[in-house]
Amino acid sequence: MLELISNDAAATFAFGRALGEVLQSGDFVGLTGQLGAGKTLFSRGVAEGAGVPLDDVSSPTYSIIQSYRGRIALHHVDLYRLTSEADLFSTGFHDLLEGEGAFLVEWIDQVKGAAPDDVLRITLEVTTPETRKLKVTTSGPKSEALLDRWAVSPSPRGGEGEHSPR
Ligand SMILES: Nc1ncnc2c1ncn2[C@@H]1O[C@H](COP(=O)(O)OP(=O)(O)OP(=O)(O)O)[C@@H](O)[C@H]1O
Ligand SMILES: [Mg+2]
Repeated sequence: MLELISNDAAATFAFGRALGEVLQSGDFVGLTGQLGAGKTLFSRGVAEGAGVPLDDVSSPTYSIIQSYRGRIALHHVDLYRLTSEADLFSTGFHDLLEGEGAFLVEWIDQVKGAAPDDVLRITLEVTTPETRKLKVTTSGPKSEALLDRWAVSPSPRGGEGEHSPR
């Protein structure tokens, strides 16, 4: 497990942007964390890093799934309002999984079975109103390779939240 410290909202966005820059079709990122932890802010960073115009990116709490086209196809999903796997089936999520694109899923633990075996999982913890701890785990070759490409350093020097090559 890797722990990242974010000292302000901009740092969380920057962590996301760095991840988005190296995201590839077929990657799956799952986000967890309490209301207001920063999942959507992080996701907006990922989308920007993946070349998606930021104006297109909001929180898919009501739409459940928003698909963007940047450097790659990016499916941004929010499972907050779902309660069962049957709900999830009706959104077309499983059909999307068969196709192209990377997945970025907020509230990944809300629906059992939503996460594939190989997932880069990021849990955002609220440490103070302005700071967050990001706990990152991998669970297979794809997520390990993604974490490697992300190349975030656990204690960034200088500007917090900037990523530096390992
Ligand atoms: N270090 C930080 N990292 C992330 N967000 C921060 C930080 N400090 C303050 N914030 C604020 O916390 C809020 C995070 O909101 P955001 O919508 O991203 O959370 P969320 O996890 O998506 O919540 P929800 O589950 O309700 O959708 C923003 O208002 C942001 O400015
Ligand atoms: Mg959100």
